[in-house]
Amino acid sequence: MQFLHDPQIDRDHDFLINRFSDLYGTLCWEASEHTANLTLLEELKTHVFGHFTREEAEMKTLSFPDLAQHHRAHQRLRRAFIKGLQNLESNRASLQEFLLNMRERFLTHIVTWDRAFEEWLALQPGYVPTTHA
Ligand SMILES: [Fe+2]
Ligand SMILES: [Fe+2]
Repeated sequence: MQFLHDPQIDRDHDFLINRFSDLYGTLCWEASEHTANLTLLEELKTHVFGHFTREEAEMKTLSFPDLAQHHRAHQRLRRAFIKGLQNLESNRASLQEFLLNMRERFLTHIVTWDRAFEEWLALQPGYVPTTHA
């Protein structure tokens, strides 16, 4: 999935989508593995939140006019992630549902909000698409 001009942001997207899928395929669903699973999901949360922070920093550097709205969209995802983890910690939700739901929300964000940023960027004077390695 390549449409942002920044290779690091694109790598983030690819890495995170693959990570959601990998975890879905490899997590052991036994109750005895609950704590280990939560640790892996905490790591995923750190990656996702770090990505949002990098993206917002880039938007700020480029004076993206919709940064505030984009930040709010990130905040909704951050809150959903945190709430989902809390529900898992208290055994009120299923891991599978959590992963599928967050992966879907993350993908939807990329093809709507992140794409809107890219489309704005492509209209800026002097914009030159970066060649991905
Ligand atoms: Fe993103
Ligand atoms: Fe974003």
